[in-house]
Amino acid sequence: MPATTLITLPGLIDCHVHFREPGLTQKGDMESESRAAKAGGVLTVCEMPNTIPPAVTTEVFADKVKRAERIKDVDIRFFFGITASEHLEELKQLYASPLWKRCSGVKLYFDHSTGNQKIDGSLLGEAFALCAKLNIAVVCHCEDPETNQEARDQKPEASEVADHSILRPPESEDIAIERAIALARTHGTHLHIAHLSTMQGIEQVRAAKSEELKVTCEVAPHHLFLTVDDYQTLGTLGKMNPPLRTSEHAEALWAGIADGTVDCIATDHAPHTLQEKKTDEPLKAPSGVPGVETMLPLLLTVAAGKWPHPGGKPKYQIPNTKFSVDDIVRLCFENPNRIFRLGKDAAPQKIQIDPEAEWTIHAKNLHSKCGWTPYEGWKVTGRVVGVTE
Ligand code: DOR
Ligand code: ZN
Repeated sequence: MPATTLITLPGLIDCHVHFREPGLTQKGDMESESRAAKAGGVLTVCEMPNTIPPAVTTEVFADKVKRAERIKDVDIRFFFGITASEHLEELKQLYASPLWKRCSGVKLYFDHSTGNQKIDGSLLGEAFALCAKLNIAVVCHCEDPETNQEARDQKPEASEVADHSILRPPESEDIAIERAIALARTHGTHLHIAHLSTMQGIEQVRAAKSEELKVTCEVAPHHLFLTVDDYQTLGTLGKMNPPLRTSEHAEALWAGIADGTVDCIATDHAPHTLQEKKTDEPLKAPSGVPGVETMLPLLLTVAAGKWPHPGGKPKYQIPNTKFSVDDIVRLCFENPNRIFRLGKDAAPQKIQIDPEAEWTIHAKNLHSKCGWTPYEGWKVTGRVVGVTE
């Protein structure tokens, strides 16, 4: 039998990860999560500000940059957070300092998620205006606090993990996206929508692009490969924000990939310990799933014309036969490199892939400190076999 031809790709960029250091290192740290990233072919990451303390001051930002110096295999860039007015001043200071080159952009949370990072809504205009002036992308977690509150009020008896998708409904994301796009239009800001998960969201980004606004978006593997049906097997391991949606939404995300509306695939890698996840009250379990090590094999499987799944008949399948390895490079290298000005163009480190290797995902073979994966037992085709300098 002829040996498989290996393919060489640029080391991927995951523009949305939570590496948990400092302050949350029982879940993960820069070392453990970078090991996971490298094993998954990801050699550059943009890390989110919801650490403890959060990266909302120049001092904390500097500390995170310093900590990252010991990580040799993965280039860690950081987002800066804004929740209160003094952080706008801090951002200006950061801009004037040499640390600026480690800053990939600003992250704003429209509603609460892990960490106390919700922005004071009255600051949104100023934050968008400042980011436009500094010429950096503002990444928004789009969920509307009022809509989520209404959903909670309408379902006081909610207790099952599947209720999580009802308590943070698709309309919540759609309303927040509408608001974010309006702000981008007013201030001329580059808006990047994080982990977009709804069909109306895709529709809005499509419309914004045809209006030639500077609006880009990313989708997460868990919204492409998992749906509300997976709560049955995953329980709280399938809880994240924004939550799992029905398959119509996942199909719309794949259609957005096919027609170029989606700019990036990014994991929102958000490890939590199993102990934290397995609470008696499912709705109190922390939101987030690991994903940085499994993104590439899942995508390579689709590029190989198959659908990754845990055996038996896949519950849902998108016949997106056009998805190719070139799309992976576009979505997980070229576009995030451009959007976040990462400067990775000159001879980036390469990864080697065996596109035909068939294997089964098992958490025990993965590297995140959290020790679990929502894709346990999934059969995939394609794996990273090496990293070249
Ligand atoms: O599911 C999520 N997990 N969504 C977020 O917004 C935050 C993240 C985390 O940090 O755990
Ligand atoms: Zn996130």
